[in-house]
Amino acid sequence: MIREIVVYPDKRLKLISQEVKDFDGGLCDLLDDMYDTMIARNGVGLAAIQVGVDLRVLIINIPLEDEDGENYGEERNPNDQPKDNTLEMINPIVTHKEGHEKFQEGCLSIPGVYEDIERAKYVKVDYYDRKGNKQTLENSSFLAIAIQHEIDHLDGKVFIEKLSYIKRKKFEKEWKRKQKEGLI
Ligand code: CO
Repeated sequence: MIREIVVYPDKRLKLISQEVKDFDGGLCDLLDDMYDTMIARNGVGLAAIQVGVDLRVLIINIPLEDEDGENYGEERNPNDQPKDNTLEMINPIVTHKEGHEKFQEGCLSIPGVYEDIERAKYVKVDYYDRKGNKQTLENSSFLAIAIQHEIDHLDGKVFIEKLSYIKRKKFEKEWKRKQKEGLI
C-alpha cells in the first residue's frame, strides 16, 4: 500500500526514530508499504519517518548498473529494479567510516532539490533484516552514500542541513516561494 510522503519542513522529519523491538507482521507491513511508496515515487531510498513512522527502519533500492553513478535520489524508472534488489535495514549502526566523497543527492521529502553533499566514502554498518537476523555490510560506492543519507533521517536530519549557510538560505527562500505558489 502506498503511503503519503512527509514533506519538508514537516516537524516529523526532525524526530529521532525509535529502535525496532518487535520483528513482527507490523514491521513487514511497514517495509512492504515503504517499498510500494518508494517505487511509486521513483525513489531510490526511504526512511520510515518519511511515511510518518518514527522507527529505525530504512530501505534502499540498490542500482544494478549504476553502482558508480554520480547522483543519489534522482528519479528513475520504477520498473528496472526487482523487489529482491532492495536492501532493508532495521536499527542500523555505522561502526566504521572513512574517507570523503561528494555526491549529488536528492530526497523524496524535498522533491525537486538536488545538491552536492560530502559524506564518508566507506562505511561499515551493523543492522538487522526483517526476520531479526543481525547483518553486516561494507560499501564504498553509491550504496555507502545512500545508507548515510537514510540513517540521517532516523536521527532527524535531512541532507540540506549539510549545505553551507549561504546555500541553505537560498534553498529556504526558494522553498518558501515554491510553497506559496503551490508547487509543493
Ligand atoms: Co531523504
